Amino acid sequence: MEQLKGLILSGGKGTRLRPITHTSAKQLVPVANKPVLFYGIEAMAAAGVSEIGIIIAPETGEEIREVTGDGERFGVKLSYIVQDEPRGLAHAVLTAETFLGTSPFVMYLGDNLLQGGISDLVSAFREHEPDALILLTPVLDPENYGVAELDGAPGGAPPGSVGRVVRLVEKPPQPTTDLALVGVYMFTSQIHDAARAIEPSGRGELEITDAIQHLVDGGMRVEPHIVRGWWKDTGRLDDMLEANRLILDNLVERVDGELRDSRVDGRVVIEAGALLERAIVRGPAIIGKGAQLTDCYIGPYTAVGEGCRIEGSEVEHSILLEGSSVCDLQGRMESSLLGRNVTIRRGDGQPRAYRFMVGDNSDISIL
Ligand code: TTP
Repeated sequence: MEQLKGLILSGGKGTRLRPITHTSAKQLVPVANKPVLFYGIEAMAAAGVSEIGIIIAPETGEEIREVTGDGERFGVKLSYIVQDEPRGLAHAVLTAETFLGTSPFVMYLGDNLLQGGISDLVSAFREHEPDALILLTPVLDPENYGVAELDGAPGGAPPGSVGRVVRLVEKPPQPTTDLALVGVYMFTSQIHDAARAIEPSGRGELEITDAIQHLVDGGMRVEPHIVRGWWKDTGRLDDMLEANRLILDNLVERVDGELRDSRVDGRVVIEAGALLERAIVRGPAIIGKGAQLTDCYIGPYTAVGEGCRIEGSEVEHSILLEGSSVCDLQGRMESSLLGRNVTIRRGDGQPRAYRFMVGDNSDISIL
């Protein structure tokens, strides 16, 4: 088989993660203090895919390029491909056609996380040589996903089984299967013609499900692969927090920062240069470089970014991006995502009123 290339989709609008995505790419939001995009690149590198194209949008592409670089640190070669407008996943494939050439490739949505990586499916693809291979996972609410009906396996195929995909449906009102498409796919170069043959959907996008259905209708062999571990699409706040939780669950303890009259319990990482004074950190949690935690409690499933400051407050099940600070809150802050350099503090003096300076599309809940 020709050498397998990688394609990671990191364009898009990210409307569901506003306001974070007004100023930054959602694929760079950190999960356990590492940009979500990096997990995809690492999964590809681990599966032996060394030439990877990254689809970027004109608005956020430069930042992605700057943060991610040429790929050397991942041991891969990265190329960036600008998609002028987010006109769908199949449109992104067509945008990358020059980069991909006639190579088979693995396509990975840049805001997705897959436990256990992609080595299994790369092996299945190499072994069975289908025209396409799609990843599926059983979900409780298939009406919210693109789903796949399989040949002769009404209840879904067992893990690792070889079957055939017969029909793909985008968000079916009455699903006949609970197998949702996970954001990782493997294609041969046949997909380019399929993407060219289809029309934009009702929402104006060239849908990858339509392109795959086109392959099926043309008699091509589209193989399903059932995911064994968890899969997360981090497109919404709750999913992002859940992904953070899942990754932090596997943290290996390490304390490189300084602890003064402080205590850490369980799986906790304290990066170098972080200073804890009279603080309690209950893991799993990660505290970034140079963060300062004073007279505070950090609860499970919290990722505190580089240079953050937390003082006189309790924070739990939250993600704080670099440079943010939380000071003197009366209640506990939880299930929150703070962008960069955000300040949350208790005001002093009278009148006792709330005072905000908040950007567009922010979301604040108070007691
Ligand atoms: P989505 O999450 O489906 O789309 P989006 O990023 O526009 O987000 P929202 O629905 O909140 O507005 O996209 C999945 C991934 O694919 C994500 O990493 C962005 C990327 N993408 C592209 O690169 N090009 C595209 O044309 C589309 C639609 C998505």
